[in-house]
Amino acid sequence: MGQVPDLPIRNFEVAGQGPAPPVILVRSMHNLLNDAAQRALRYLDELDARSVAPSAEAVAGLSRFQEPLPETSMEPRDVLALLDQIGSPATVATAGSRFFGFVTGGVLPATLAANWLAAAWDQNASMVVLSPVGAALEDVVLAWLRQLFHLPAGSGGALVTGGTMANFTGIAAARHALLNGVGWDVEAQGLFGAPPITVIVGEEVHVSMLKALGLAGLGRERVVRVPADSQGRMRADKLPKLAGPTLICTQAGNVNSGAFDPVGEICARAHEAGAWVHVDGAFGLWAAAARERKHLVEGVELADSWATDCHKWLNVPHDSGIALVRDEQHLVGAIRSTAAYLVHGEQREPHHHTPEASRRARGIEVWAALRSLGRSGLEDMIERTCRHASRFAQGLRAAGYEILNNVVLNQVLVSFGDDETTRRVIAAIQQDGTCWCGGTVWHGRAVMRISVSSWATRDEDVDRSLAAMIRCARSLGVVKNNS
Ligand SMILES: Cc1ncc(COP(=O)(O)O)c(C=O)c1O
Repeated sequence: MGQVPDLPIRNFEVAGQGPAPPVILVRSMHNLLNDAAQRALRYLDELDARSVAPSAEAVAGLSRFQEPLPETSMEPRDVLALLDQIGSPATVATAGSRFFGFVTGGVLPATLAANWLAAAWDQNASMVVLSPVGAALEDVVLAWLRQLFHLPAGSGGALVTGGTMANFTGIAAARHALLNGVGWDVEAQGLFGAPPITVIVGEEVHVSMLKALGLAGLGRERVVRVPADSQGRMRADKLPKLAGPTLICTQAGNVNSGAFDPVGEICARAHEAGAWVHVDGAFGLWAAAARERKHLVEGVELADSWATDCHKWLNVPHDSGIALVRDEQHLVGAIRSTAAYLVHGEQREPHHHTPEASRRARGIEVWAALRSLGRSGLEDMIERTCRHASRFAQGLRAAGYEILNNVVLNQVLVSFGDDETTRRVIAAIQQDGTCWCGGTVWHGRAVMRISVSSWATRDEDVDRSLAAMIRCARSLGVVKNNS
């Protein structure tokens, strides 16, 4: 597109003729969006050379945003320039190839581009009538995801903000089903005076599950905790006797070790007793898409509800999570709400499946990811990131550092010595800026977590990051092996 002279966006009133034609707005939009694209491209081009963590100076520069509420307007291009100048340097380079903190995916090219187009569309994906394309793509991606995860074709689904809300949505469906089964309408009556639900979690339950239980009125601390094994897997043989309305929260992919609860075994016990099994598979569920890893999720398909994230291992922009419920009527029963002005057609109405009503059409990027990768591309991405994790483990072990988990997926836990030493090495690695890893506590010990979740990570990124980790450890005198 050629350069168009930039003109301010203004509604000129021509006497007696109403606002000026929109050409002024359109010409300015071209330049504005071209400018945004140029700035975004420059940002991405520079990612490889910059520190993964922003500099202290860049973070301090954020104080420039702290100005009084502006009384007057500013040209959009100046707004963008300000955002870029102050904001871009203060970002964490999670879109790059060497961010290994938390469980954080990057942004696949097709999803970034689709996200831009979708922002221009500005669709409200709550109802078919508000966004036929948003609703249609939700239908498509839910069908594809059910296939990928080997889940029942009729399962209901919801596109939500992330793993936490996906867990919440699954729990809301479970709460509906379990209380409905004993004659209690929880949506109408709430939990006051309701028959109690026993909630069972593993010792290594993810904090988001406890948060979701709290939000659903089931309580963060009122849970029965089942011991876990050395990898953090819930021990099915330690499940209590099951009776009455019972919800068992399992996980596929421990946030630290990447280990999987024996969900099949738990389902067998649970379903005999009429209990509901929910699976938090925020990242682990994606193992189902890869031939070499899908044994890890064996039995997961027997559960009653599942939560996963797309902004983690599928590498779509934040925020994007998925809840799936075997029996759609329980999902809709928990969530459906109606009003005279809301339009209902024959098709699946998204807002009857999601806690939110108005929301962005995040199915667009999920579709773009799956459409661009295809089954084989997705499998390759999952396998590749798992191989990178193994490469990290091998390299660190060879340098004499201790790997604390069985590296079955994309997660590695490493100790550089005693807790204080490990914490100092983590701080040095973050400060060095070649890559970024966070810390955690594993079996009472401070450890560094490496999570390889980005499509963009290459072998050379792993090698460069390994070299930086070892350099940082050695610079602190943590020399285990000079080979
Ligand atoms: C196992 C597990 N469940 C849930 C979550 C929460 O996901 P989100 O941050 O998308 O809400 C995470 C995040 O890392 C996770 O690892």
